[in-house]
Amino acid sequence: MYDPAVSAAAYAVIRLALSAFRSYETLTLNVDARPVVLTGENGAGKTNILEALSLLSPGRGLRGAALIDSARLLPGEDEPQRPWAVAATVEGPDGTFDVGTGLHHGKDGSVGKLRAAHINGAATAATTALSETCRVLWLTPAMDRLFLESPGDRRRFLDRLTLAFEPAHGQHANAYDKAVRERLRLLKDNGDRDWLQAIEAQMAASGLAVANARARTAERLKADLPPLTDAFPEASLAITGSFEESRMPGDEGEARFREELARRRRLDTDAGRTTFGPHTADLAVRHLGRNREAADCSTGEQKALLIGLTLAAARAQARTGSGAAPLLLLDEIAAHLDARRRAALFDEICALGAQAWMTGTDPQLFAEMGDRGQGFYVTNGTLNPI
Ligand SMILES: Nc1ncnc2c1ncn2[C@@H]1O[C@H](COP(=O)(O)OP(=O)(O)O)[C@@H](O)[C@H]1O
Ligand SMILES: [Mg+2]
Repeated sequence: MYDPAVSAAAYAVIRLALSAFRSYETLTLNVDARPVVLTGENGAGKTNILEALSLLSPGRGLRGAALIDSARLLPGEDEPQRPWAVAATVEGPDGTFDVGTGLHHGKDGSVGKLRAAHINGAATAATTALSETCRVLWLTPAMDRLFLESPGDRRRFLDRLTLAFEPAHGQHANAYDKAVRERLRLLKDNGDRDWLQAIEAQMAASGLAVANARARTAERLKADLPPLTDAFPEASLAITGSFEESRMPGDEGEARFREELARRRRLDTDAGRTTFGPHTADLAVRHLGRNREAADCSTGEQKALLIGLTLAAARAQARTGSGAAPLLLLDEIAAHLDARRRAALFDEICALGAQAWMTGTDPQLFAEMGDRGQGFYVTNGTLNPI
């Protein structure tokens, strides 16, 4: 049976300050390390707060938005007048940090195009440094269709989970994508053979690193998947695709991948795309109780599978990753869960010791949390404690 005492530590935001961020001109919020419930009408600004928190980790945040889109626009404005900024004080296993991120100020006072990050007042060279101070996982209504969408969406989901365990995964994935594009360009232009070989060697090295890291994530998740309670379904996970099925870890895998790339030069040139590699992988999830692929399960069952996967990832991180439960951003989480599953979700969050930020329109849905959490009512850009 599942031991609830998984983590002694958790990442928790104790202060959040927003400036020119979407619907917020300014906002300062002080909270403690308990889970946070945000309720309010549609359009009140609940998801915007979760998005701001998601930007405390590298990447494009939970809306996957372009950087400029998060900058506050007043009615009638076509362009933002000021760069947005998010600042937070984050408690974690390595101490307490002041973290800030936002758009750079461009020259001549215009709004810049790049994302900056600061830790304890010092600028970091890259936003990837943010994973040193905070780990974040999220689940949003936009992800409800994950099992019905393209394999690419599921790969990105898996990659995000992987990043939370292994920050270097991002660099490997970028290096791989770059090498894929470079090779295709060389093939198209009938470029230099030595150069092509060098690029294929880079592709093999970074591609195998990407695939191995994803496989480790799947293993970690499997170890922590339900049943811990019967509220979230038991599932099996597999990374599928021709590359994955023939993948061998280590030097031999790299050599084989290189050979395969050399063999497929003509094929890939004619196809105008790369026909083999970890960029073709998919994440297959199966509902074991129903003995059915996730895509064939009911909407509610799919949501329950996703929640189970997210909780498994959080649990695995607390145990084996950073050694602390990540910040959990659960947007509109209560809407599709019955009372029993809601209660199980809250119990699991509390057992993890995670600071979950949950949103919903109806405070009543969170009544079971009681004083295990802290609630705010969001209206007109202000947050009032409930
Ligand atoms: N860049 C922006 N500038 C100003 N307002 C924005 C911007 N982006 C979104 N908004 C507004 O933020 C409001 C709240 O959005 P959201 O946080 O999604 O609400 P909800 O409480 O339903 O989750 C919406 O009314 C939207 O128009
Ligand atoms: Mg919302």
